[in-house]
Amino acid sequence: MSKDDMEVDEPASASSNAMSMLMPSAKGKAKEAANGSGDGVLTEKELREMNTRDGLPWVEKYRPNTLDEVVAHQDITATLEKFIEAGRLPHLLLYGPPGTGKTSTVLALARRLYGPPFRKHVLELNASDDRGIDVVRDQIKSFAMTKVLFSKGFKLVILDEADMMTQAAQSALRRVIEMHTKNVRFCILCNYVNKIAPAIQSRCTRFRFSPLPEKEVQRKVDEVVQKEGVNITEDGRAALLKLSRGDMRRALNVLQACHAAYDRIDESAVYNCTGNPDPKDIERVVQSMMSDEFGTSFNLITALKTEKGLALQDLITGAYDFLQTVDLPTQSRVYLLDHLGSCEHRLSVGGSEKMQLTALLGAFKIAIELSQKQTNGKR
Ligand SMILES: Nc1ncnc2c1ncn2[C@@H]1O[C@H](COP(=O)(O)OP(=O)(O)OP(=O)(O)O)[C@@H](O)[C@H]1O
Ligand SMILES: [Mg+2]
Repeated sequence: MSKDDMEVDEPASASSNAMSMLMPSAKGKAKEAANGSGDGVLTEKELREMNTRDGLPWVEKYRPNTLDEVVAHQDITATLEKFIEAGRLPHLLLYGPPGTGKTSTVLALARRLYGPPFRKHVLELNASDDRGIDVVRDQIKSFAMTKVLFSKGFKLVILDEADMMTQAAQSALRRVIEMHTKNVRFCILCNYVNKIAPAIQSRCTRFRFSPLPEKEVQRKVDEVVQKEGVNITEDGRAALLKLSRGDMRRALNVLQACHAAYDRIDESAVYNCTGNPDPKDIERVVQSMMSDEFGTSFNLITALKTEKGLALQDLITGAYDFLQTVDLPTQSRVYLLDHLGSCEHRLSVGGSEKMQLTALLGAFKIAIELSQKQTNGKR
């Protein structure tokens, strides 16, 4: 089956997901087709044509179809495969940061269990929209109780973004899981496992999806670059991988945005496209804070912020990364890190940018003094 067919395989979704945000019209029609409702039900061929015409976002186009295609989590997919082979799939709790393959894995699992027409056997609920107690009680219950004709075994309920469910809904879910274990398996997906009630956690087998290693993201990015004929430079690719921080969705989305905006994607194109400060600017800022006079440095940074539209928060993050690469005595480094942290916190609770910039500059000056004292003391 080609990847463009995947829209047809989408499970009967009870609410919108990322696709509907990206492609409202296509998703609407796909859903119509998937549910078999509406006047003109679309055929698979029409859907494929529609997807090609509208240009599917790359994250969807290159979403893994099978468990083997999920990168970097071989231990998890191999365990799932064993569960399936033994015919003993437990309730699953998949957790970890965004864009690491949780939804993809569970959809591939459903496809592996039921084949392409898996939507009849799967109920996908997105808890971000429907997080009340009614969803748990009504939709899951009625799905669990209806039988798919001519089929044996269990059905799958996918509860995406379950960490957004209310505590009351989670308590209700506890009972529902127990009541329907005979013919339903639950796949609970979330980013923050500590927001899932311990009683639910203990009913599931837990799998942690860690951020993807840079090498694995690179392999996938290279595949997409080659298939889509993207013109990207070596430093552009390095910047893309650095910015994606193990989030494959972000890597592919940024790549697609850059491809649309630039003929040739280099480092500054990636930073421009994402609104992140260019490391060269950060270096200039940090160098100035370390060696220039207070006033000179303040003026330079203020000018740069206006010219490039940078936020102090971004400069702090950039300065933090940059500090890892410079040689500083431990005492000054610790002092600076402490102040970077405080400034970031004060900004996040509404502190003024101008005041925090002066505080940051002050911290740099004292850190430099500290380091000079330390060096003089050693002599
Ligand atoms: N391990 C992976 N292997 C291959 N592609 C991946 C992987 N993880 C993410 N992707 C790509 O990123 C996109 C988003 O992944 P997915 O929806 O599975 O993330 P998620 O872990 O469910 O994130 P969220 O927590 O935000 O829901 C997929 O469509 C796919 O293209
Ligand atoms: Mg997901």
